[in-house]
Amino acid sequence: MGSVRVELGDRGYDVVVGRGLLGGVGERVRETVGGSRAFVVVDDGLPGGLIERAVGSLEGAGYTVHAERVHAEEREKSLGIFERLLGAIAGTRHERTDPVIALGGGIAGDVAGYVAASYRRGAPFVQCPTTLLAMVDASVGGKTGVNLTTGTGLKKNLVGAFWQPRVVVADLEALDSLSDRTLRSGVAECIKHGLIADGVGGGEGGLFGWMESNAEKIIARDAGVLAELVERNVRVKASVVAGDEREEAGSAVGGRALLNLGHTFAHAIEPIGALTPDGDPAKAPLQHGEAVALGLVAACGAGVQMGRMSERDAQQLRGLVERVGLATRVGGLPSDEDLIEVMRHDKKVVRGVFRLVVPVGLGKSGVVDEPGDDVVRAGWAAIRA
Ligand SMILES: NC(=O)c1ccc[n+]([C@@H]2O[C@H](COP(=O)([O-])OP(=O)(O)OC[C@H]3O[C@@H](n4cnc5c(N)ncnc54)[C@H](O)[C@@H]3O)[C@@H](O)[C@H]2O)c1
Repeated sequence: MGSVRVELGDRGYDVVVGRGLLGGVGERVRETVGGSRAFVVVDDGLPGGLIERAVGSLEGAGYTVHAERVHAEEREKSLGIFERLLGAIAGTRHERTDPVIALGGGIAGDVAGYVAASYRRGAPFVQCPTTLLAMVDASVGGKTGVNLTTGTGLKKNLVGAFWQPRVVVADLEALDSLSDRTLRSGVAECIKHGLIADGVGGGEGGLFGWMESNAEKIIARDAGVLAELVERNVRVKASVVAGDEREEAGSAVGGRALLNLGHTFAHAIEPIGALTPDGDPAKAPLQHGEAVALGLVAACGAGVQMGRMSERDAQQLRGLVERVGLATRVGGLPSDEDLIEVMRHDKKVVRGVFRLVVPVGLGKSGVVDEPGDDVVRAGWAAIRA
């Protein structure tokens, strides 16, 4: 078992990583949080055995457990589900000192976290991520929330709160039941970390090269490699979050905004319901990680256009994305003009300034204010099929 500390002073916490951890989650929650009732938000795509293990462990540790299922789809990650969960928790005798626990992927975690942040103005929160993406990214750092549908469509994560978990329990056994597609989506966020790891502390310089050397083993779910992958990526995320908890650093520093690498492109295409990773309509819409992989390729295209990144490095990135089975191009994109308009309304716009994260090599990235439409167009051209 490994453990990574997220250094946030009195809000600091451990991310524990290992196989079989859900069987002992009850004792761990008792030690770190206490309380007597546990409100568990359960991803309904999880195998029953995994849910039983976690709930059984909580009950064994003396908790009265109330479990609410959520369906992990972006359109479900809404104020509607948030309200339903608040109604459910209010219907129990849950007190402010009792834990809210997320058991699932990033969608369950984001929604559960927002419930924890809001119910009685804040209840202790525990993350039990069950997808690779949630283990290496979504469960660490305290961003919680839901999407909002406005007159101009679905806006990702527009409503939410920073609310750090008290502990993150990443049971690698959960990855056994993950579909290949969802595993690959998580690898996309790992590649993103690889593109910033050399410049952000955390001791994970060279992560991109390590991923290149281990790409096939990652996809084949080699147990040792997956454990190392999760720990190394959590160290990158933890280091960035510790340096800029609420994404307030200026563009020159980068800070937490660097984690948005690829996401300004990704968020513009993720809500387009008809897009698919390989042209098969049955696979629409894109998963978050699939959109991020395309976003990373687009960000590299932007970097090349700006002369910040070499064409060779951009090709190498594309090569890794392809080797892990993620798409590097997508058909059916709207016009550049329409996409740029959507990007300008992304919540990452700060004081009216459009910020784009652009790689400067295979391990370092930087924030660029107002990159110019030609740069953004080059990004879209890089992924347009
Ligand atoms: N809060 C953050 O900092 C942060 C960071 C990155 C992404 N996110 C968010 O995370 C979400 C994506 O998360 P995700 O990639 O985990 O997707 P997800 O939550 O949509 O889960 C993907 C699929 O995997 C299933 N699943 C989950 N665990 C499983 C398991 N162990 N076995 C079998 N199936 C399982 C789910 O039911 C779902 O069908 C997006 O909404 C994104 O915006 C948040």
